[in-house]
Amino acid sequence: MASKKIIAVIGATGAQGGGLVRAIVNDPQSGLTARALTRDVNSARAQALATLGAEVVAVDIDSETSLTRAFSGASGAFCVTFFWAHMQPERELAEATAMVRAAKAAGLRHVIWSTLEDTRKWVPLTDNRMPTLGGKYKVPHFDAKGEADAVFARVGVPTTCLLTSFYWDNFIHFGMGPKKGPDGALIFTLPMGDKKLPGIAAEDIGKCALGIFKQGKELTGETVGIAGEHLTGDQMAASFSRALGQPVRYHAIEPSVYRGLGFPGADDLGNMFQFKRDFNSAFCGARDLAFSRSINPELQTFEQWLAKNKEWIPLT
Ligand SMILES: NC(=O)c1ccc[n+]([C@@H]2O[C@H](COP(=O)([O-])OP(=O)(O)OC[C@H]3O[C@@H](n4cnc5c(N)ncnc54)[C@H](OP(=O)(O)O)[C@@H]3O)[C@@H](O)[C@H]2O)c1
Repeated sequence: MASKKIIAVIGATGAQGGGLVRAIVNDPQSGLTARALTRDVNSARAQALATLGAEVVAVDIDSETSLTRAFSGASGAFCVTFFWAHMQPERELAEATAMVRAAKAAGLRHVIWSTLEDTRKWVPLTDNRMPTLGGKYKVPHFDAKGEADAVFARVGVPTTCLLTSFYWDNFIHFGMGPKKGPDGALIFTLPMGDKKLPGIAAEDIGKCALGIFKQGKELTGETVGIAGEHLTGDQMAASFSRALGQPVRYHAIEPSVYRGLGFPGADDLGNMFQFKRDFNSAFCGARDLAFSRSINPELQTFEQWLAKNKEWIPLT
């Protein structure tokens, strides 16, 4: 039997990369094997991946040399950057550039780049509907990722650009779920008006990435988008109500109000939701549900995700 192709996975101990490592080790027929890249091979999360059967290798994503070493001998790589670890779009672009250059040096045959839209193509800096942030961005954690798409193309690495979606897991980890109002009733607040938010179970991103690697060449040079469902605030509130067994009301606020909430990154996220609201058909259209299910037949709906995760959602 031919030896399995190695897929090097950046962010392997995190949401996207972790989902991919687990998807690969759970699919012995895929012909692929996972190399989990981490800053700390001895961490509990890294060791858990080793126990599952993944090779665990150290990497420093700020170093092209370290990345090249970590990619060496692999057939493909999953590349993701960690905006919220530093909140610096220029650094995110530099990290993505180091990843591309390392992928080229290591002779990788297929890279998946986890990206998002460069919103400045829709909202130029001169458009005052939302503030310009950091002097040259509208949605910093989107724009640098989108800007990096061209770097992958320019360097000539066979790449699939993967447009991801809002993780429903943000309702657990990012404090975005329903909260008790003054009268004790649960309120779910989003600045999306009556527009649909494409969302996904974070674990499904890795499963979709495995589907893309399995299709191989057919999807290199392409940009594809994924989501589990496109749902309005009212639809999500109705699902929360059914899952939690108590009424949850959707409260639509203006993006300007969201920008003023005062937590780090509120302005970036306010602009992000406004972009998703104001360019809703393009944003949803780029994340086709049938395509997502075709590459990941286990794709979860919001209700399925809630059934598994509702007890972890903090409601205070
Ligand atoms: N939240 C959402 O709804 C959403 C939606 C779409 C896209 N995104 C994007 O997803 C990206 C993050 O991916 P994720 O959610 O999979 O990440 P994550 O769960 O936060 O995990 C990141 C993992 O990467 C490693 N890491 C963190 N900082 C690092 C650094 N400076 N150098 C090297 N490794 C580092 C850590 O592993 P080790 O400690 O083991 O090294 C960590 O376990 C962000 O850029 C965000 O914009 C988020």
